Amino acid sequence: MESLNNYLFKYKGYVFAKGETTGEYIDSLQHFEIRDSDVFLVTYPKSGTIWTQNIINLICEDTTDKSKFPNNLEKMPWLEYREGRPDYSLRASPRLFATHLTPTLIFCLIVYVLRNPKDNAVSYYHFSLVWAKLEKPKSFEDFLQQYLAGNVGGSSWFDHVQEWYTKRDQYSILFLSYEDMVMVTVEKICKFLEKNLDDAAIAHIVEKATFKNMKKDPRANYEFIPGDLLLKPQFMRKGTVGDWKNTFTVAQNEMFDQIFKERMKNIPLVITTVN
Ligand code: A3P
Repeated sequence: MESLNNYLFKYKGYVFAKGETTGEYIDSLQHFEIRDSDVFLVTYPKSGTIWTQNIINLICEDTTDKSKFPNNLEKMPWLEYREGRPDYSLRASPRLFATHLTPTLIFCLIVYVLRNPKDNAVSYYHFSLVWAKLEKPKSFEDFLQQYLAGNVGGSSWFDHVQEWYTKRDQYSILFLSYEDMVMVTVEKICKFLEKNLDDAAIAHIVEKATFKNMKKDPRANYEFIPGDLLLKPQFMRKGTVGDWKNTFTVAQNEMFDQIFKERMKNIPLVITTVN
């Protein structure tokens, strides 16, 4: 286990936040009993996790008892976070989990959400400023260097996307993109999870999952996270596509494009663009 700074450690090549998990806990997940019906939402951090989590939770509302869980986090917890972990073996199927892990131990229904890495970096930068368990970057440039080096929780965006994409044949996996998260996406998730929802139910979910409505929804907006962890409630920050244009300099953009071209050259990713 290698300490990267006061907040992050590297274990088996992957970067985790200290306090949220341990190497032993990550190892213990090798023995985690997966059920065929388990649904995993997989993302690189700041790619629209809580948005898709809300959509999946709403889609599965008929089978997982809403009243049992006060909010989306408890209904769909992060597998790798140890703190406050309930005994998941007691949960009724289908169990719902979120994770930022790479594909080493997950073998069931997977919804993977990808976001334009430039918007992702900007979102992650702002999140680092308000999440108490992350080092505060001195500037966006400072953060971008760490992001490109993969020295952030979740490691490298490039590695994460490539690992999941290249292993896609080994899993039952639905790739989605933040940029395309509209009505048709909800329909795709329903089909993938074999949920027969009629048009009205789908429209209702789409409406509940808009940025404006989610921001007001106490079960979904993550304002329930205590203030000692989240210095300012801004999980629902801006929710737009192309915000990177307000932050990246021309030089940063050119450098990023160059790195993207090089790192992603073997991946014919049509599901995202960087421009
Ligand atoms: P911004 O910081 O660009 O606003 P994650 O859930 O993986 O942490 O990702 C958080 C990002 O998803 C934030 O991006 C947040 O605003 C955005 N997001 C959350 N819910 C959304 C929604 N309903 N519509 C659009 N974006 C949403």
